[in-house]
Amino acid sequence: MVERTRLGELGGCGGDGSCPSGSGNRADTVSSASSPGGGGGTSVLATMLNDRAPNGKLIRLGAIQGHVLNLMIAGHETTAATIGFVVYYLSRHPEWERRVVDEARTVLAGRTEPAAADLRRLVVAEAVFREALRLHPPVVVLTRDASADTTLAQGRYVVRRGQRVMCLLPALHRRDDVWGSGSGYPDPEAFDPSRFIPGDERAKGRPANAFSPWGFGQRACIGSQFALMEAKCLLCLLYSQLCVGTPEGYVAVPSTADGGAAPVPKGLSVLLYPRAGAPDVAAAAAAADGTAEGTKAEAAVAPASAAPAASSAAPPVRSIPIRILYGSNGGTCESFASSLAQRAAQLGFSATAEPLDAAADGSLAAPAGGGGKGAAVAIVTATYNGMPPDNAAKFMKWLEGLEKSEGEGATPSLLSDLRYAVFGVGNSQWNLTYLKVAKAVDVGLAAAGAQRVRAFEGADVDGAGAADAFEDWARALLEGAQAAAGVGGGASPPGTERPARSGPPPRVRLDMLPAGTPALSSAAEVVRQARRAGGIDAPEFSGEGYHPLAVTAATQLLASSPGVSPPAAPAAASAAAAPQQQQQQQQQRATVHLEVELPPGLTYQAGDHFELIPRNAAPLVDSALELIGLGGEEPVAWTPINVAGAKGGPARGIVAAGRAAAAGGDASSAVEGAIKQQPVTARAVLGHLADLSAPCSRRLVAALAAAARCPPEAEALGVLASDDGYASGVALPRLSLVDLLSRFKSVDARAALGASPPGGEGGEGGERPLLEAFVNAHPRLVPRYYSISSSPKARENRATITVGLVQLITKAGRQHRGPGSGLAHDCRPGDEVVGTVRRLQSTFRYPSEKPETPVVMVGPGTGVAPMIGFLEEREALMRAGKNLGKAVLFFGCRGRADFIFKERLEQWVASGVLTTLHVAMSREDDEHGRRGYVQDWIAKEAVNLWPLLDRENGIVYVCGDARSMAPEVRRSFAGVAASAGGRSQAAAEAFVGAMLEGNRYLEDVWAG
Ligand SMILES: Cc1cc2nc3c(=O)[nH]c(=O)nc-3n(C[C@H](O)[C@H](O)[C@H](O)COP(=O)(O)OP(=O)(O)OC[C@H]3O[C@@H](n4cnc5c(N)ncnc54)[C@H](O)[C@@H]3O)c2cc1C
Ligand SMILES: Cc1cc2nc3c(=O)[nH]c(=O)nc-3n(C[C@H](O)[C@H](O)[C@H](O)COP(=O)(O)O)c2cc1C
Repeated sequence: MVERTRLGELGGCGGDGSCPSGSGNRADTVSSASSPGGGGGTSVLATMLNDRAPNGKLIRLGAIQGHVLNLMIAGHETTAATIGFVVYYLSRHPEWERRVVDEARTVLAGRTEPAAADLRRLVVAEAVFREALRLHPPVVVLTRDASADTTLAQGRYVVRRGQRVMCLLPALHRRDDVWGSGSGYPDPEAFDPSRFIPGDERAKGRPANAFSPWGFGQRACIGSQFALMEAKCLLCLLYSQLCVGTPEGYVAVPSTADGGAAPVPKGLSVLLYPRAGAPDVAAAAAAADGTAEGTKAEAAVAPASAAPAASSAAPPVRSIPIRILYGSNGGTCESFASSLAQRAAQLGFSATAEPLDAAADGSLAAPAGGGGKGAAVAIVTATYNGMPPDNAAKFMKWLEGLEKSEGEGATPSLLSDLRYAVFGVGNSQWNLTYLKVAKAVDVGLAAAGAQRVRAFEGADVDGAGAADAFEDWARALLEGAQAAAGVGGGASPPGTERPARSGPPPRVRLDMLPAGTPALSSAAEVVRQARRAGGIDAPEFSGEGYHPLAVTAATQLLASSPGVSPPAAPAAASAAAAPQQQQQQQQQRATVHLEVELPPGLTYQAGDHFELIPRNAAPLVDSALELIGLGGEEPVAWTPINVAGAKGGPARGIVAAGRAAAAGGDASSAVEGAIKQQPVTARAVLGHLADLSAPCSRRLVAALAAAARCPPEAEALGVLASDDGYASGVALPRLSLVDLLSRFKSVDARAALGASPPGGEGGEGGERPLLEAFVNAHPRLVPRYYSISSSPKARENRATITVGLVQLITKAGRQHRGPGSGLAHDCRPGDEVVGTVRRLQSTFRYPSEKPETPVVMVGPGTGVAPMIGFLEEREALMRAGKNLGKAVLFFGCRGRADFIFKERLEQWVASGVLTTLHVAMSREDDEHGRRGYVQDWIAKEAVNLWPLLDRENGIVYVCGDARSMAPEVRRSFAGVAASAGGRSQAAAEAFVGAMLEGNRYLEDVWAG
């Protein structure tokens, strides 16, 4: 307010900016500026007003007004922008935050505000501010026009009169010879205020012009001392009074997107809570007013009466348990739950992560089992064809039983002491049952009287962003839990550990070993080794554990189409710049029929699934190795990280094989235990442990932006990390970390991913190799399912799968070969894969015990796989003399070229194993001149199908694409009930609904 009035007076107006500049009464202005209230006769303002040039002229009032405005606006803005970075860096460097606080407390000696004489003693505050200015100077370019021909750098560069020279300050401030290894500091990128602490030996001999945030020469900033004074006062006040945090996971990206002149940390929000032992401002103010008893000094040094809740009334957070339960087949929800548990443990909660079935014993209602007053449970679960994952089925039964036992109209009470939150993970391609199980858990717990502490949230794995959505949910949940515990949210409360790095906690520890250490190079070797070491126990052997399996046959049913060639070069850079212009091309689907030998004890039935441990394609692994500077053969010791108290679910992939081999863990440690098995090669690690094709998470893009050394790249990455930029620039074209690092070459991957600087690896403590950080920055590579396309009645101890190859050119211009289907297509007889048999949906079975039941099978493309298994079963039953009901198959393909299993199907028609075969071709006419999809053929066959469905109680099996084929086919069967059965539309839909309920309409569908 004071400033506005005075500016207004200068210009002769009320400060609303409406008057012409330069007008007004100089005499009045001078007198008011010279008055004590206006700063006095020696104030800067009075000096400017009174100063005369050698020719005797005064400075124009308008010019002075301009200068003052410039000082107020530019000076304020640049200082504020830098303070934003200071706050950010201090929140990430607690050791420097501590020094700022200690200095402020020492200098203030109990007072609440610094005095002018204190400023020179705030050396740490000044060093911190200067270091932030070095890394993020508010003015990034200084330009100078040569007024005469000259040379620069001892004659190295000739500059002609009129030529412009630009000095890029962020580059100048990062010169390795001055700020990095050349001067004894390890890394010019690192925030290290000791560079500006007076007396630091390494600063000796630093050229004066190496640090120029305020410019230089005649046009250097005249407000620099003001800025330093303002910044030091602010830091002293702020940090002596408050704990200042930034949200966990936040990465400061310099940006001018919000319209400022100086780059500010984009989207910065600051979390403030009182600092224990701060001088009592209220008491000091009261004492100053003379309203409080005692002297000013006494009041000022008194400890804070409003001490932070965290340090006074609140119970120690470590005593508060959070039980985390997950439902997971593929491991996504399990790893989400594990990361939540780790994060909670870091904040001091006592956290465990277990499968949902561990709570099927009613323990949620019993204090000893994690229920009871104030108990908290967080649940994250997937859905499989509307059903719970394997390790959540018992829990769902228990929950349903609970609802029934509460009875309708009864007051729900059983779980009334339980507080809960549910996060669902699903795929919207299963549109009818999207997130169904998670929603049922959420509703079921509420119905049993539990108190929901956060509204239900879910994430769609069809696309990017699920990991970010879970991270946001987890963070908000834990902030709420902290607030409920009275320890403040967001930033770690005093006394609790700060997470070492942003983003999700690491899930695997990788230690580089000396060259020459023997190392395993394939998943099959790892699994075999773990078994030999007794690492995987017997029960898992016959059920969920993985096996190295010999490939006994690999038949190419359909070769990939010629003419679609891979791109000439990995054009990630240009393509990423204009992703929308790049068309994703799906090459014609090569299809392979693989047969594997099953070990004794591993059995299956037709209709079961095969679960395959996939492997990233070799060129992608090579790119990743190159980006992190490894050759591939380096031996690596790997240790899955699990949270204290986490009880491992079924073994999953080579990570879990290792975990299963762990010899028990220290409950207080975040690392479950060392794995007693042989090291693996870096190539095997990158092949199996990380989904290298996954779209980069938004958090990670922001971290890349912060670690880009080249300002234009930092800016471009900053845009990609914004809401809109991420959706269209990363999620849609599915840019992976490899894509982004290949394109943005100036990104310091170590800084972005939180790895140690080169040479600092392998130690205990916080020094972590880049390989580990790189792997942990990706989601897990989850197993792939394949419908088994054989019957054990036809091939004892062998199973087949029929796999369509996923191979396409991504919008980033990279050749993508699916990790699951690519591996299957690379197999030759004698090779080994790792996998097991899964019973995803036990009702998808051929009715062998009632073989006279008619079956209607719909299986376009590789959706025909389980139908081939059923037909092998029928063939065996026929040979055994059984009386078979009718079998109708609707197969779909584009044209004759991709009519897989043609000969076998036609033979089966000839032998009566298959009663009728309908082949719907979508891009070619059949012999009757027709083309279309399986649903069209079903509609055409209504009259023949209806008696099988209605009178003869036949079973319908549908397998293949979940997004459009399955719903279309269901509609088509409702159409059969309407057209041939004479039902109304509603009754026809109810007929199909009843078939579904009665397990006579069975779907085995997947997202394509
Ligand atoms: C219950 C069940 C049964 C199944 N049965 C069979 C079966 O019998 N036969 C069969 O062939 N498959 C089957 N599948 C599908 C199979 O599990 C895999 O999903 C499939 O092989 C693809 O896996 P992938 O690792 O090769 O490719 P992925 O890389 O996982 O590709 C999966 C999808 O993502 C897309 N994609 C990946 N990366 C990109 C990118 N950068 N840009 C654009 N799109 C991209 C691909 O187009 C593809 O549609 C089944 C799935 C389930 C759930
Ligand atoms: C066979 C199969 C069926 C699925 N059915 C559903 C479904 O009905 N509804 C849904 O929302 N998601 C469905 N999904 C998606 C999964 O819930 C999703 O992939 C989830 O991330 C799996 O988590 P998990 O790895 O922890 O098991 C299905 C996935 C598969 C493989």
